[in-house]
Amino acid sequence: MRPTLSDYQHLSSGKVRELYRIDDDTLLFVASDRISAYDFILDSEIPDKGRILTAMSVFFFDLIDAPNHLAGPPDDPRIPDEVLGRALVVQSLDMVPVECVARGYLTGSGLLDYQRTGEVCGIALPTGLGEASRFDEPIFTPATKAEIGEHDENVDFAAVVGLVGAERAEQLRDETLRIYKQAADHALTKGVIIADTKFEFGVDGDGDLRLADEVFTPDSSRYWPADTYKQGVVQPSFDKQFVRNWLTSPESGWDRSGEAPPPPLPPEIVEATRARYIEAYERISGLRFNDWIGPTS
Ligand SMILES: Nc1ncnc2c1ncn2[C@@H]1O[C@H](COP(=O)(O)OP(=O)(O)OP(=O)(O)O)[C@@H](O)[C@H]1O
Ligand SMILES: [Mg+2]
Repeated sequence: MRPTLSDYQHLSSGKVRELYRIDDDTLLFVASDRISAYDFILDSEIPDKGRILTAMSVFFFDLIDAPNHLAGPPDDPRIPDEVLGRALVVQSLDMVPVECVARGYLTGSGLLDYQRTGEVCGIALPTGLGEASRFDEPIFTPATKAEIGEHDENVDFAAVVGLVGAERAEQLRDETLRIYKQAADHALTKGVIIADTKFEFGVDGDGDLRLADEVFTPDSSRYWPADTYKQGVVQPSFDKQFVRNWLTSPESGWDRSGEAPPPPLPPEIVEATRARYIEAYERISGLRFNDWIGPTS
């Protein structure tokens, strides 16, 4: 008999995940179907999103050769039936207070910073770059994590040194870039560009760095189809950009400059987002989402 969620102490709610305590060293890390955009949790959920994100993370934790936070398989007997397929048993880590971002291409907040200053996170870049320009070498563009409702803030490497010390900062940068390249090389063989991605690391009881949180999900990464890649224009994407584009289009009627939360997503946007997430998973992993465990939502 599997336990039920109420057997575990609820520790915290993030924008997308719930954390429960299994024991002193172990957490139940549960992904919901919630979706956030522009730092708002939207009113609409994307059915099966929690399972897709979990399947994606598990695929990449397997692929990447770096210590990670997994403390059991996706069907671990400590996982309750009600969250099977969207929960993982993980080591409880001391989280590093830095969002470790690797960018292989210029877009989003990186592009905005570049247009203002010619730099991203203190890294001077060549002139003449634009939307979706590819860097010769991926860059480490850390951010500090914001409280719910606030924006993450891009910071330079010196700020990371200030937070965690020089040695740890260098390790975070080097591991972020190494892991990004490993996954991006794999995705490219499947016709997918991982334009950028965000990691969170934690430190275990031995003081060693471990890759934690989610990895290479469409929530933490920008995925572009490689066959239609073209510099200078906004790329079609497999990720949340689709939802962002709808929210900022005239159809949504949302005034982003005000205090108002975004409107609910229409059913066709919900369904199209779900389909894109599944397509990204199946293309990159070569696996079928129908074969992933757990009840469909
Ligand atoms: N192994 C771990 N031990 C302890 N905390 C962890 C571990 N892995 C991830 N976390 C934390 O769990 C939380 C996951 O929640 P969630 O992703 O919903 O929140 P969020 O990061 O605030 O939102 P968003 O991902 O949209 O920025 C994060 O606070 C993350 O730092
Ligand atoms: Mg998160």
